[in-house]
Amino acid sequence: MSSKLVSAPVSRSTDVFRPDIFKGKVLFCTGGGSGICKAMTEAIMHHGASAAIVGRKLDRLTESAKELSQATGQTCLPTQADVRQPQQLKDAVAKTIEKFGRIDFVICGAAGNFLASIDGMSENAFRTVLEIDTMGMFNTVKATLPYIRASQGAYIHVSATLHYKGTPYQVHVSAAKAGVDALSAVLAVEEGPRGVRTNVIAPGPIANTEGMSRLSNQAGSKERPYPLGRMGHLQDVANAAVFLFSDAASYITGQVLPVDGGCEHMRSFQ
Ligand code: HXC
Repeated sequence: MSSKLVSAPVSRSTDVFRPDIFKGKVLFCTGGGSGICKAMTEAIMHHGASAAIVGRKLDRLTESAKELSQATGQTCLPTQADVRQPQQLKDAVAKTIEKFGRIDFVICGAAGNFLASIDGMSENAFRTVLEIDTMGMFNTVKATLPYIRASQGAYIHVSATLHYKGTPYQVHVSAAKAGVDALSAVLAVEEGPRGVRTNVIAPGPIANTEGMSRLSNQAGSKERPYPLGRMGHLQDVANAAVFLFSDAASYITGQVLPVDGGCEHMRSFQ
């Protein structure tokens, strides 16, 4: 099998789903100012939704919101909040409600990562990533749940695949993302009776992302074979988000959907 990256074209969700399936809906997305979450936001806006994007850096959010509006013709509100601060999230939710009057979809995507061995990681470093990824998700769910109940809406949480096995230098992210997966499962069974759905997207190796560039710069990392002959594109993850928020996924909740091109099933003989 070739290990070369194949730049195959990737379908956009608008090639598959009607462009108005999210008309009148509102997305609240943490981490939406860049990378995978920005790509998911753009795809959902392409189907008619308005969006609020949340992050720590208002200048970057403002720039991204402009780009997203221009690309989709929909309204995008930049709202500053650190997901570790529950009150800041509540304020961001209040601004979103003031602007749009409702929230239908939430993407919990804010995350932190760096490479460090267990031996080289301080307690504060470990705690910081758990606070951003896992507590940040909890805080976001707490701040948005009344509105998601009211709209009978849905959550998508951005996890990873690296905690399925022991990934060196990723103990903090592995522990944090295992918590994300578990929290979503509990949310599914507690809130399912109220019409709320929740699922996890677990991106594998996705090209042109901060996470991938950090991991692939890891000492000793080497190119690996890809079952589908290429790395993932941002659009692949965005397409999965459109599907999971759509009515086509109305009986899917509490699941983890790896978008990894089959990489987790790949055993390499060395
Ligand atoms: C060891 C480190 C470190 C490193 C930070 N720390 N970087 N330790 N190696 N490379 C330690 C610091 O020394 C400090 O501990 C503690 O972590 C907190 O660091 P701060 O800089 O004070 O925290 P903060 O400013 O809140 O920044 C959070 C962050 C930062 C996670 C450290 O990198 C960040 O904000 N990143 C956001 C963007 C990002 O990482 N995106 C990538 C997401 S990708 P001490 O003990 O000194 O106080 C992703 C996908 C994963 O998550 C899957 C990939 C496939």
